[in-house]
Amino acid sequence: MVETTISVIKADIGSLAGHIVVPDFLFEAARKSLKEGVNQKIINDFYVTNAGDDLELIMTHNKGEGAEDVHKLAWDTFMKGTELAREKKIYAAGQDILADTFSGNVKGMGPGSAEMVIEERRSEPIAIFMADKTEPGAFNLPLYKMFADPFNTAGLVIDPNLHDGFRFIIQDIMKDIPCFIEMKTPEESYDVLALLGSTGRYTIKKVYRADGMITASVSTDKLHAVAGKYVGKDDPVAIIRAHSGLPAMGEVLEAFTMPHLVSGWMRGSHAGPLLPVGLKDSRCTRFDGPPRVVGLGFQVSNGVLIGPVDLFDDVAFDITRQRGMEIADYLRRIGPFQPHRLAEHEMEYTTLPKVLASCENRFVEEEIVPKTKAKDTSESAE
Ligand code: F6R
Ligand code: MG
Ligand code: MG
Repeated sequence: MVETTISVIKADIGSLAGHIVVPDFLFEAARKSLKEGVNQKIINDFYVTNAGDDLELIMTHNKGEGAEDVHKLAWDTFMKGTELAREKKIYAAGQDILADTFSGNVKGMGPGSAEMVIEERRSEPIAIFMADKTEPGAFNLPLYKMFADPFNTAGLVIDPNLHDGFRFIIQDIMKDIPCFIEMKTPEESYDVLALLGSTGRYTIKKVYRADGMITASVSTDKLHAVAGKYVGKDDPVAIIRAHSGLPAMGEVLEAFTMPHLVSGWMRGSHAGPLLPVGLKDSRCTRFDGPPRVVGLGFQVSNGVLIGPVDLFDDVAFDITRQRGMEIADYLRRIGPFQPHRLAEHEMEYTTLPKVLASCENRFVEEEIVPKTKAKDTSESAE
């Protein structure tokens, strides 16, 4: 059996006309760099794409998770791209590059990554989901639905291979040191939901089938945790295996048919619906959004990526997008008010605290009655 590692490493290193879309010359530079990586036998194969302003490097190799030379290849690719983006004065050039030198792994250096080591099955269909203007917790709801909700995934009821359920590895991403818990569905579904409902704190890291087969991997990197301040979004990526004893590709995609609300729209400070879109619509425009997700389907074949299929480029998702846009339009009418604008604790790492600081020392302990202006009595006295 062939053992293959799939690594998706992404970074926002600059985009066109604001935080909208990765420019073509960055795709070209990334492809050139990864081609060299193939020639040097660092990786087997790759596909370069974008989720809005994020450059996405989808790679296969056989070196396992966190392999130094694979991560260095991605890092060097982002560095080369950043240099070009700076030369051309592209907006936010090098935004997610938060370290000067590479130190063994892209983790904690700005870029996000999801990785998975698989023993290739007789046929290995996978989906890569890449989101823009949101955070890792955006995948909590769809992944729960995929692997634990029989109303989404018929196989949980019908297919004996899925019937025993799944194990969720959940990460507390607010902890300085990565902290994980394992929970099993369906037995612990309510506990799983108790955690996953707090999308800003608990995120799915991996999902395994009950027998231990790896089936999902999600990036959980938090940029502000690295930079200590708001520098951009932690736009997440996820790798999902489908079929033959796992949710079918259609069940995987079904989980995205409800445009659920996610955090991260405009200035990382607003909630909005997650729109599943085809690659041609992978660019956030209205109010820098709405947040969106693209999905690419591949067959992994002896370490080579065959495809992709642009999974959401289908009329079947028009109704979801329409619904999402109506929700977006409704939310925009609320403007700076919660729940469109995020709650204060979620704004801790944005620029709002700077504004609030100037109001803070004007608070007093007694209710204030504004002084009235002295009346001008000169006319009535005549
Ligand atoms: C960036 C993002 C955007 C920016 C916003 C302000 O990925 O989410 O919504 O936060 O466009 O950008 P700056 O601060 O660069 O003017
Ligand atoms: Mg950006
Ligand atoms: Mg982005």
